Amino acid sequence: MKQLLSQNVKYIFFGGKGGVGKTVIAAATALYLAENMGKRTLLASFNPVHSLTSVFGQDLSGGVVKQISGVKNLWALEVQYDDIVEKYKTRITNLLKEMLKMAEVSVDIQPLIDIATTNPAFHEAAAFDKMMDVVLKEGENYDRIVFDMAAVANAIRLIGLSKLYGAWLQRTIKMRIETLTLKEQLSFRKEKIKEQIEKDPVLMELQDLYNRYVKVRSILTNPDLTRFIFVTIPTMLSISVVQRFIEMVRAYEIPYGGVVVNMVIPPEEAERDATGFLKSKYEEQQRNLELIRKAFSPNILAVVKQFPEDIVGLERLRTLATLLVS
Ligand SMILES: Nc1ncnc2c1ncn2[C@@H]1O[C@H](COP(=O)(O)OP(=O)(O)OP(=O)(O)O)[C@@H](O)[C@H]1O
Ligand SMILES: [Mg+2]
Repeated sequence: MKQLLSQNVKYIFFGGKGGVGKTVIAAATALYLAENMGKRTLLASFNPVHSLTSVFGQDLSGGVVKQISGVKNLWALEVQYDDIVEKYKTRITNLLKEMLKMAEVSVDIQPLIDIATTNPAFHEAAAFDKMMDVVLKEGENYDRIVFDMAAVANAIRLIGLSKLYGAWLQRTIKMRIETLTLKEQLSFRKEKIKEQIEKDPVLMELQDLYNRYVKVRSILTNPDLTRFIFVTIPTMLSISVVQRFIEMVRAYEIPYGGVVVNMVIPPEEAERDATGFLKSKYEEQQRNLELIRKAFSPNILAVVKQFPEDIVGLERLRTLATLLVS
């Protein structure tokens, strides 16, 4: 882990199955970068259910970047899903209205808007749009951005979108140009229409989206700038989730950074437990750790023990960070 952090990788993503420790490990990593390496660091949570506030024991909600008190160089952002979905909806609605204006037929636009904005992919599209924002805009303000992603399914779709999104935009832009060209051909006032095409707000917005997308994609697929790290615990289910996830990330050309193994029972604790309960759990974990070594070596970045209590507050995060980089 230490080696990865000392490279100039700017965007670090954490993914994995639900509840394996993505948030605390992302938080500890960000804390280490800020405190021990002096990097201006932003910790961004893209989880609809936020936990940065409870992990740090300070109010980090509200969907805006907030400085973490008690730590130099560290800021946090809990992305507010309701907010970004609402904003994205307004933008898409305006775009649709503008597109239909050109058709010069009066239709009830509401059902079209409903179809476009209530489908399940819409939330992911809105989240992806926000992620592009964070990468491009906040990328200028920070040395490092650490992303705490929601559980697997959501993150996969987010990544998948980055490829689909580009294809969709290209098609939409092409369609728009065809519509405008057709209008030009049918019109007697070709000059005026030409001017309209040049100033077409829909085309401008689509082009702007596409340019942003191309920029972000070039960042997210560059291994010098971006790494996707997976957190797993020593259970079969978590391991197979990560294996699947790694394949997908590779298919989307997102640089894979390695695996952090979390919640490993220390042998001395297993020995101390007279009931044998922990011992049996420990042995099961050891068998799964063997599978982890086979599956992920040499890309295991760190192995972190199970703490006797939840990881909340700066002190415990600092302890976790030390384990991560040792
Ligand atoms: N090594 C550890 N030892 C003890 N407790 C841990 C450890 N790692 C994580 N935890 C605790 O486990 C719980 C889940 O951790 P966390 O919230 O970081 O997981 P997550 O993967 O982000 O979950 P979600 O998928 O819900 O976002 C938290 O209460 C956290 O404090
Ligand atoms: Mg989490």
